[in-house]
Amino acid sequence: MQPSVIKLTRMTEAHTEAPTHYPPSAAFAATANATAEIYDRAEADRLGFWAEQAKRLSWATPFTEVLDWSEAPFAKWFADGTLNVAYNCVDRHVEAGNGDRVAIHWEGEPVGDARDITYAQLKDDVSRAANALTALGLSAGDRVAIYMPMVPEAIVAMLACARLGVMHSVVFAGFSATALGARVEDAAAKLVITTDGQYRRGQAASLKTAVDEAVANQPSVEHVLVVKRTGIDVDWTPGRDLWWHETVEQASPEHTPEAFDAEQPLFLLYTSGTTGKPKGIVHTSGGFLTQASYSHHNVFDIKADDVYWCTADIGWVTGHTYIVYGPLSNGVTQVVYEGTPTSPNEHRHFDIIEKYGVTIYYTAPTLIRTFMKLGRQIPEAHDLSSLRLLGSVGEPINPEAWRWYRDHIGAGTAPIVDTWWQTETGAIMISPLPGVTAAKPGSAMTPLPGISAKIVDDNGVELVPGADEAEHVTGYLVLDKPWPSMLRGIWGDDERFKDTYWSRFAEQGWYFAGDGARYDADGNIWVLGRIDDVMNISGHRISTAEVESALVGHSGVAEAAVVGATDATTGQAICAFVILKESAHGGSDNIVDELRAQVSTEISPIAKPREIHIVPELPKTRSGKIMRRLLRDVAEGRDLGDTSTLVDPSVFEAIRASK
Ligand code: WTA
Repeated sequence: MQPSVIKLTRMTEAHTEAPTHYPPSAAFAATANATAEIYDRAEADRLGFWAEQAKRLSWATPFTEVLDWSEAPFAKWFADGTLNVAYNCVDRHVEAGNGDRVAIHWEGEPVGDARDITYAQLKDDVSRAANALTALGLSAGDRVAIYMPMVPEAIVAMLACARLGVMHSVVFAGFSATALGARVEDAAAKLVITTDGQYRRGQAASLKTAVDEAVANQPSVEHVLVVKRTGIDVDWTPGRDLWWHETVEQASPEHTPEAFDAEQPLFLLYTSGTTGKPKGIVHTSGGFLTQASYSHHNVFDIKADDVYWCTADIGWVTGHTYIVYGPLSNGVTQVVYEGTPTSPNEHRHFDIIEKYGVTIYYTAPTLIRTFMKLGRQIPEAHDLSSLRLLGSVGEPINPEAWRWYRDHIGAGTAPIVDTWWQTETGAIMISPLPGVTAAKPGSAMTPLPGISAKIVDDNGVELVPGADEAEHVTGYLVLDKPWPSMLRGIWGDDERFKDTYWSRFAEQGWYFAGDGARYDADGNIWVLGRIDDVMNISGHRISTAEVESALVGHSGVAEAAVVGATDATTGQAICAFVILKESAHGGSDNIVDELRAQVSTEISPIAKPREIHIVPELPKTRSGKIMRRLLRDVAEGRDLGDTSTLVDPSVFEAIRASK
């Protein structure tokens, strides 16, 4: 078989005048948690390195074996050790004398609605919830669905499950009743925890109604536990429905945590695959918590006096690992914000950073590009001098957004960690270490110490970094060695687990992440996006992300989405959908020609889009991912596929009108 790697020639490098590398300042490097030495230590003895990291946790029974890979791809890490995950996230900090430390500065969506929760209070709350769940008949191995906005009780509920060895399945509160129902059914959840309603841009909207609909014909569901958040009216099913304040808040704050095996399942998290049925990704306890704690400590350089803020929602894996388990296992003080970045106006995030003196801010490229679109006068109206480290996750960050983030939010000095990982990997895998790496905008750089990743061609042959510097050769990103927080399977479907992740490179026994990537001449990894987002134009594979990055490199462009549409001549042709910045409206008449030229000079004439549509909005899921599948439908003139996970299905009328 011919390797189908692509060869693209860049005519010019973008941003020739801007630095290509951003090393940390000497002052940052001098006090950094992670130094270059840990790469060497991990390289010399990978399993020994992980055993050492696992000692960040309190084990009830110490483990003697690090990894059992004899039943690959089903891994066991630290298998004969026992621990309690919630004890590690809460109780031990109180026992260490830090009970008065604020665990969560909670900021509600309505301005002024805020609460500080200390570790001692969190311990009492989690203990009460664990007692209440036990009284409802839940025990280790059961499943609980959590369908809640970003209120403190959602985190308490997750930790109460963890404390009891019960698996939580958090379902993003923006999902529909149908989506929730499918997940409750697949997991056969016994309990659903929700709220009466949630605030959406200042309005109280019902949430429990969706739960009522979702569980109507679900025999597994015995109870629905409801936190009163907005006070709106709810329907009530006596016997089944219970108020949180009448059960959990009345329970005893005394609860002794039981130790569970390291491989005790911790949670299920559904993620979309290539078929319509979502996959329930299974994570377990000891390995997951080890890597969550290790990566959080080193990638975010966490210190005792930091105020950390991850803007994700607990409905996604980032909220699991970098709001709940990583930060709390490390005993940090963090901000948790309930609402959207534009409520009541687009200053909200910056107001919060100022109010709490946030030092570490971890968000998604889509939000950074939104801020760019709104203009730098918004961050400039605030004192953001407390920020010392910035993070990015979820999709490739284009170099222009990276530089804007550093200049206008990070005062031109804060290191940026571009963190690559997935629901399936459980924790960050590829990222700069902020006190070590001279980061390049747009690259997630290299695997963390203890992690092994490669970029290979169709035949599993590793690409050679810098083989030909002028050519951009793209391959498959694989993880060639097991890691502690790896998924342990797909709930109830071992075959699908093997098939989805382990069959592409079955012979080698590698995990295929589904992403395309390339090495630069220095061997750094540039993740280009999902392989199914890679187009094939006249036999050349071109990543949608690369074309998008070129388009947003134009000063008039705020955001761009690119898809490959079927073309009789070239196989696929590139269709671009572009949002212009406010300032570009009414500007150049031939912006479309300029953009085509831009792509041509940034990548190659073969990457020139066939069509460029100027649109007012892009179709996005509630987690902010652009739904390219739907854009392909539009580009190819088909009826639209499933639009149920879109934030605003009406954007299509506007997009169609622009065609
Ligand atoms: C993409 C989110 C480039 C990638 C934690 C991956 C990224 C998918 C990055 C997983 C990054 C995530 N650079 N691409 N820094 N981070 N991705 O499961 O395509 O929601 O496979 O996990 O997001 O998305 P998921």
